[in-house]
Amino acid sequence: MTESKKGLVVAIDGPSGAGKSTIARMLAQRLGYIYIDTGAMYRAIGWKAKRERIDPADEAALAGLCSRTEVSIKKDNSDPRFYVDGLDVSGEIRTPEMGMMASAVSRSPAVRSRLLELQRELGRQGGVVMDGRDIGTVVFPDAQVKFYLDASPEERGKRRYLELKEKGMAVDLARITSEIRERDHQDSMRAIAPLKKADDAVLIDATSLSIQQVLDRMLADIGKVK
Ligand code: DC
Repeated sequence: MTESKKGLVVAIDGPSGAGKSTIARMLAQRLGYIYIDTGAMYRAIGWKAKRERIDPADEAALAGLCSRTEVSIKKDNSDPRFYVDGLDVSGEIRTPEMGMMASAVSRSPAVRSRLLELQRELGRQGGVVMDGRDIGTVVFPDAQVKFYLDASPEERGKRRYLELKEKGMAVDLARITSEIRERDHQDSMRAIAPLKKADDAVLIDATSLSIQQVLDRMLADIGKVK
């Protein structure tokens, strides 16, 4: 397989809370690649829709919002920051509420096509680890390396709960787990670019694996391609 001057495109898809962003960030660091968190882009649009009191089911309103909204990423440090119309929203988009909002707006054709364009542009030259729901199936179907990272809903709920608690947020485990199930359903049942494993993606069930074990497994697979 051919590798661009800047490197490979590594696609990581999977449901919420499977550990994609932690792993993707570490993988990018190890490879000297750029990490692109596509979920944060949907969260950014969701954040603005909420702010403007737009109903996520109102396609015309979302199309209008996309046409006048600039989502940008500053990726020159190890922790990329996300901006909506120049305003840093990196912290605010990380709440469970924004996760649900992102999932709701991600059903919109206008939102998806707008972000697809941005994601393809960012990954065009290679040397990226991109995580999301449709990276290996739609955004980069020709990505040289594809992973589908999964874990049981209970384990994902527990991890998300601990992560948010550590950030000082008041969270409830049962509620987080039920939101995760709801998001799984919403993300995998939508009409456009639903969450699903690409036929040629390597499935990793991380339920009983440590971060290091997942990372080692991925690095071994990437080593076979590079
Ligand atoms: O990965 P995350 O939890 O930050 O993603 C938030 C939501 O955004 C997710 O529930 C569905 C949507 N999303 C998507 O539809 N496609 C992607 N490539 C990434 C996220």
